[in-house]
Amino acid sequence: MRVVITGATSGLGAEMARQYAAEGATHLGLVGRREERLNEVAEECRALGATVATYTQDVRDGAAMQELARDFVERAGGVDLVIANAGVGSPDRIGSGDPGPLTKLMDVNVNGVINTLIPFVPTMKEQRSGHLVAIASQAGWRAMPHHAGYAASKIAVRTLMDGFGYALEHYGVRWTCINPGFVVSEMTDTNEFPMPFLQPTDVAVRRMRKAIRRGARTYTFPRRLFALICLLRVLPRFVVARLRA
Ligand SMILES: NC(=O)c1ccc[n+]([C@@H]2O[C@H](COP(=O)([O-])OP(=O)(O)OC[C@H]3O[C@@H](n4cnc5c(N)ncnc54)[C@H](OP(=O)(O)O)[C@@H]3O)[C@@H](O)[C@H]2O)c1
Repeated sequence: MRVVITGATSGLGAEMARQYAAEGATHLGLVGRREERLNEVAEECRALGATVATYTQDVRDGAAMQELARDFVERAGGVDLVIANAGVGSPDRIGSGDPGPLTKLMDVNVNGVINTLIPFVPTMKEQRSGHLVAIASQAGWRAMPHHAGYAASKIAVRTLMDGFGYALEHYGVRWTCINPGFVVSEMTDTNEFPMPFLQPTDVAVRRMRKAIRRGARTYTFPRRLFALICLLRVLPRFVVARLRA
């Protein structure tokens, strides 16, 4: 299997790279900005038998992502699975008056997904096979106080994947949008609020791979957290405003 993964320098992306290599992926394309970390993960995957190409680049750079797709397809002779996983999370801090952090977050989390997946569509369309995956979040079901930007970015990803699905089905290409709950990673390491049902990274990635393998269009886990979030969706605004996040 020939797999491209963005955000492969840490957390879910690095673990996906290791697990796909262990499963027997022949070609891996790993993307992230921290070169040293990327090379470390690549070495681990090579030791597991995969041929690995590393791309030290920013998913916000559309032209570079198009070149990446061209390069990977040429090296691997095609592509089977592309996982748009790179993402950032930070509080809104609208009181600062600086829109910069929020627009950057939207750029990485939304345009980064578009820049990652779309350049592979022509190849998959020609192959009449392939699978595009985006990592959204359960945060995309209910904006918590002070985290509206992150929630909005993940709602956008879910909507995009749902809409892209109409064309992809026509081309014979599969697609999956994954909405994880809290998972141990660099992103959650800095969270100071309670994270119910926090999952170990390897366990979460095994569940995600299983959903991808069976071709689920949407996969939201753990279900216990989803039940809690459904409750938050119907709670009055003044109750939600009291929750610390
Ligand atoms: N952990 C959770 O609880 C959780 C829950 C729901 C959804 N998610 C989603 O899961 C995905 C992975 O997050 P994680 O938890 O594994 O966090 P993480 O450990 O912080 O990993 C984020 C990855 O994204 C990469 N990245 C960030 N900005 C980038 C950019 N501009 N260009 C290229 N790569 C970039 C980082 O690499 P570099 O810094 O090296 O570029 C890193 O490899 C994210 O989309 C996140 O929103 C996470």
